[in-house]
This record gives sequence, C-alpha cells and structure tokens, in this order.
Amino acid sequence: MSTARYAVFGHPISHSLSPRIHSAFAHQLGIALEYTAIDAAPVDFATALERFAGEGGRGANVTLPLKEAAFALCARTSDRARRAGAVNTLTRNDGQWHGDNTDGAGLVRDLTSRQGLDLRARRALLLGAGGAARGVAPALLDAGIAELVIVNRSPERADALADALGEPERAHSRYWQDMRDLGDFELIVNATSAGRGDGNGFSAPLSLVNSRTLAVDVNYGEAAIDFLAWARAAGCHDVVDGLGMLVEQAAEAFEHWHGVRPQTDAVYAALRERDPVLVTAD
Ligand code: ATR
Repeated sequence: MSTARYAVFGHPISHSLSPRIHSAFAHQLGIALEYTAIDAAPVDFATALERFAGEGGRGANVTLPLKEAAFALCARTSDRARRAGAVNTLTRNDGQWHGDNTDGAGLVRDLTSRQGLDLRARRALLLGAGGAARGVAPALLDAGIAELVIVNRSPERADALADALGEPERAHSRYWQDMRDLGDFELIVNATSAGRGDGNGFSAPLSLVNSRTLAVDVNYGEAAIDFLAWARAAGCHDVVDGLGMLVEQAAEAFEHWHGVRPQTDAVYAALRERDPVLVTAD
C-alpha cells in the first residue's frame, strides 16, 4: 500500500511550518504519511487540488490567500466552516472534498489551555475581516467573549463578517478610522495581513488598551513583529503571537484525519526555540 498523502496549499508556501508539524505528530504516533507544501496561485488552485486528489491526496490544509476559495470548492462543509465562510482543512471522502475550519478552535485552545487565559466576558476588538478573521471570529464568540467589534480597512468586508456571524447584539462592525471612539478592550486580535507586506509598522490609538488587555496576533514570525511591538509599547497585559494557534489548528486537523489527537507541547516548544523573538503571555 502506498503512503497516505497530505499537503498544505498556499501562495506563497515555502515558509510553511505545517509539513514539519504534521511529520512530527505522525512520528509521535507511529503513523506513516507524506505531507508536502504545494504552491498554488488562486487561479490555479482548483486544478492543483484536483491533481492532488488524482494522485491519491487524502487531506489538505489551506492557508492564505486560498481559504475562501477552498470553501467554494467543497461538496460538504462543517458548521464552523460555514459560519467562517472559509476552510483551512480539506478531507477527501467518496471522491469529494469536505471542508472544515480548525483555526478558531486552535486559537482558543492555545489561549486557554496553553497560555492559561480566560476569554469569558472580555470585550474584544477584531482587526481584519479576511479569511483569517473569518476563521477565528465564531470560536471567539463560542468562547464566551462579551462583545466582538470588527474593524477592517474596507468597511464592507467588516459588515459582511458581522452579518455572517448572525449575533447583532454581540458582534458588530465599526469604521477603522473611528477606533479612537470605541473605548477600551480586554482582547485585541490582529487578523490583518498588514505586517506581511509593506513594513510600514502598525499603529492604533492607545485608548484601546486597559489594564487587562490581551493582544493576540494570528500571524507569527516576522509578520507579527509590528503589531506585537505596538501591543507591548501600549502596555498590553499579555502579548501572544500565532505560533501556538498554528500548532493547535494542525493538531485539530490531524485528529480529524487520523482519529487520534497528538500531543502538542513538544512540537510547540521546538518551534518556539527556533523563533524566540516573540514571547508568549507575560
Ligand atoms: P487572510 O486570509 O490572511 O485573512 P485576506 O483574506 O487577503 O487574507 O485578508 C487580509 C486582511 O488584512 C483584510 O482584512 C485586509 O483588509 P481589506 O479587506 O481592507 O483588504 C487586511 N489588510 C491587509 N493589508 C492591510 C493594511 N496595510 N492595513 C490594514 N489592513 C490590512
């Protein structure tokens, strides 16, 4: 029997840690599999995914900028993928792709189980309304936050996300340029891709921060530096990057595919050692 094939699709993808994470989980549990990174531009994604299926691909992770496209290619989707309108985990079943989204569960597990933080009753600000923001917003609501205010550079995308969440009393959109008037938050989540590009830094009003504020970037590595630097300078109580979320969303996908949950601590510690620049909760 040939080795089971899995992959992560994205564009760009060469920097992805997912092959390393899934290989470590497989090694830990004695499961034989091949997990590769496949670069696919948005216009080529559907073809590349079909080719992968034709070559025996059983499951795939999807990262930016393909999560919303992946959702559209699925014959079936999980409830949490539908609430997100974005898919990061694909499973081949009966010749079709089934889509799930493990990003939000991964973020909440990292913050609560690993970092020991309580999200309940926090007033939360979500920066961004793209695929990453869509993935985490439903799980934050499920974790018991008091309110979710969504701001995005293009306001119509923030409106669309707030509408899709369907909880107008708790989740609503505001204009990015009105951040100064929003009051303060116990949780600020950066789900924009701003830090991945122009290197122009991140700036936001200090009035957003109070004595309990937890600042989280769903990005990790260089892409998270600007936001986390702002968060520290602004005096946020806890500052967390997206490395733990990455490991936890992978564990969730791994369990989905292989029916067994891997231990994440050793894998997380090994990656953190390589990327010590960004600290975790204070
Ligand atoms: P991802 O899958 O990473 O979410 P995406 O769907 O392309 O990628 O979304 C990128 C997000 O980062 C969007 O919220 C985007 O804002 P727009 O919807 O207005 O494009 C946000 N973003 C990207 N560059 C930004 C910048 N320089 N300042 C603020 N927001 C930015």
